[in-house]
Amino acid sequence: MEANKLHEVILNSGEKMPMIGLGTATSPLPSNEALTSILVDAIDIGYRHFDTASIYGTEEPLGEAVSKALELGLIKKSDEVFITSKLWCTDAHHDLVLKALKTTLKNLRLEYVDLYLIHWPVRLKEDVEGFNFTGEDVIPFDIKGTWKAMEDCYRLGLAKSIGVSNFGIKKLSLLLENATISPAVNQIALRWIHEQGTSVIVKSFNKERMKQNLEIFDWKLNQEELDKINKIPQCRLYKAEMFLSENGPYKSLEELWDGDP
Ligand SMILES: NC(=O)c1ccc[n+]([C@@H]2O[C@H](COP(=O)([O-])OP(=O)(O)OC[C@H]3O[C@@H](n4cnc5c(N)ncnc54)[C@H](OP(=O)(O)O)[C@@H]3O)[C@@H](O)[C@H]2O)c1
Repeated sequence: MEANKLHEVILNSGEKMPMIGLGTATSPLPSNEALTSILVDAIDIGYRHFDTASIYGTEEPLGEAVSKALELGLIKKSDEVFITSKLWCTDAHHDLVLKALKTTLKNLRLEYVDLYLIHWPVRLKEDVEGFNFTGEDVIPFDIKGTWKAMEDCYRLGLAKSIGVSNFGIKKLSLLLENATISPAVNQIALRWIHEQGTSVIVKSFNKERMKQNLEIFDWKLNQEELDKINKIPQCRLYKAEMFLSENGPYKSLEELWDGDP
């Protein structure tokens, strides 16, 4: 579908990012085989931007889907697909970032990701496995060292753009004070609407709904509808209380989210 391809934003790196991306975080996770097939369908119907993360467990099936799409002739080169992945909190240590990205690239069977994000402004002890952690495993986040390592990934050409996710204003300001390269994106889990001029990650593994979600460029909300939507209070669906603890770096949601609602 050309419509999606025509709607792109240019990031501060100069790279183009399709405004609609397909999210791949879900629970329970389908089998790798089932997910690969869903993602090949998504490429077939026109998705050219995919959002994954090392913690989602979807990098491998996404890599497989891109290979299959190439074999089937749905795309001619893998660079026709824009891929975002994210650094998990156990790897948010200056010396582990590059290794984590290399593992991601191996999973995705790619030489670079289009966008690599720090998933959370949170550092977990290295030996934590998956989501099996308590607040005691959260240690102070090294914003300067982690971002420096992200910049190295960019300079090595392993990430075409770098950015963050779930950062509040204070943390973003602190990062900018210490950055040589500014983040291209701050991905947040609020349900943003396209009319606000932001790009959006939609998740559906149902083919019909995947199609519907790509068709937002063909129609517009009228002023009355926009007014109604603007009156709906915005709330954060995923607050991430799991990162809070009495003795850790984040004692309250206020601290984690910099007071943002
Ligand atoms: N950076 C972060 O920390 C972060 C946090 C949250 C999310 N994300 C990314 O954003 C993506 C989306 O997350 P989300 O929280 O918005 O999605 P979600 O709540 O996980 O999924 C959206 C739900 O809406 C349904 N749906 C989708 N399109 C629909 C349609 N047209 N009509 C009716 N139902 C529809 C889907 O069901 P079906 O699949 O059955 O259609 C799914 O159950 C994630 O997959 C992930 O990639 C990132």
